[in-house]
Amino acid sequence: MLGRLNHVAIAVPDLKAGVAVYENTLGAKVSKPQAEPDHGVNVVFVELANTKIELLEPIDENSPIAKFLQKNPSGGMHHICYEVEDIIAARDKLKAEGARVLGDGEPKIGAHGKPVLFLHPKDFCGTLVELEQV
Ligand code: CO
Repeated sequence: MLGRLNHVAIAVPDLKAGVAVYENTLGAKVSKPQAEPDHGVNVVFVELANTKIELLEPIDENSPIAKFLQKNPSGGMHHICYEVEDIIAARDKLKAEGARVLGDGEPKIGAHGKPVLFLHPKDFCGTLVELEQV
């Protein structure tokens, strides 16, 4: 079912400071910030040869990332995104296996303009998993 690792997402309290770490300290190529109001975040993509890192900053205190940052004030790994060919088929198989799909269970359009779903961390080794159809 799983294809490539699409990205690892890191929540940060301050996107500018996060960009500075990746651009200046680590010497990576970082995209321009983009607002994702449907997901409550501002995001940049760090482009690596084999995958991407997303830095996520909460848009406001109602953002799902805001709660995470209360527990992890300096930031931290928020989720990992795997590619799938058919997100509906993947969802139905996972639900049949007893896994919990977050939200209403219907794919939303993610930061890359493709359908995504999130899976409950308790069902996946303590890691919030995003599936993206490619
Ligand atoms: Co993501």
